This record gives sequence, C-alpha cells and structure tokens, in this order.
Amino acid sequence: MAHAHRNHPTYWAFFIHRVSGVALALFLPLHLYVLGLALAESTAFADFISWSNTPGLKTLETGLVVFLTAHLTGGLRLLALEFLDWRSGQKSLVALSGGISLCLGLVFLLNAY
Ligand code: HEM
Repeated sequence: MAHAHRNHPTYWAFFIHRVSGVALALFLPLHLYVLGLALAESTAFADFISWSNTPGLKTLETGLVVFLTAHLTGGLRLLALEFLDWRSGQKSLVALSGGISLCLGLVFLLNAY
C-alpha cells in the first residue's frame, strides 16, 4: 500500500491540475505566435488556419478546452480551499469540476464542425 494516497479523487485532481497547467503554459506562446501572424503575415495565418482545420487537431483542441476548464474550475476549488473555511465534500467538488470540464469539451466539439 505504498501509494495508497494516490488512489483518491483529490490526488487525481492534483495530477490533472499539474498536467493541464503545464499543457496550457506550453500552448500559450504558440497561440500568441499564431495570433501575431494575423497582424503581420495574414497569408501565413490563413494557411495555418486551413492547415489546422483537421479532425486530429479539433480533437487536440477539444482536449485543451477540457484541460483549461478543469484547470479553471479546479483552480477555483483550490483557491476556496486556501482562503475560505474548510468544507467537506471535496470529492463532490472534484466531480463537479470534471463534469463541467467534459460538458464544455462537448459544447466545443459540437461547435467545431
Ligand atoms: C483560468 C484561470 C486559472 C486559475 C483559476 C488557475 C489557478 C491555479 C491555482 C490555484 C494554482 C495552484 C495550485 C496548487 O496550489 O496546487 C495553479 C497552478 C498552476 N497554473 Fe493555473 N490557473 C489558471 C490559469 C492558468 C493558465 C492559463 C496557465 C498556463 C498558461 C496556468 C498554469 C499553471 C501552472 C503551470 C501551475 C502549477 C501546477 C503545479 O504546480 O502543479 N494556469 N493555477
């Protein structure tokens, strides 16, 4: 039972928070670079947009939307944990965060095609 503490929803919430935080940090410079192309090199930007319009990239983007929502809602749970009084039901809040994230991913996916 060396890793029993890892078999808990709030451990997985920590794990998702870290992985999503790093993924967002890697995505952001790329995102700003591509947006920058729209200002200076509009053909390169248009080329990128048409190149990116593939099912594979839409799937990756959907994952990113789920990660961003998970990081946002999970981050709000952590901030509440830090600054407000303790409240029980953390597992339910983790489940709520996961559910909202998957819902937003679905909304994105339904709009993507
Ligand atoms: C959308 C609103 C966001 C909220 C509410 C939020 C909230 C938080 C909180 C509370 C933490 C500390 C977690 C802890 O104490 O364990 C954190 C960590 C982190 N955040 Fe965010 N964040 C947001 C957006 C972002 C964005 C846009 C990025 C990347 C560009 C990002 C990258 C990170 C990273 C890399 C960490 C460190 C993760 C770790 O040490 O495990 N966050 N975030």
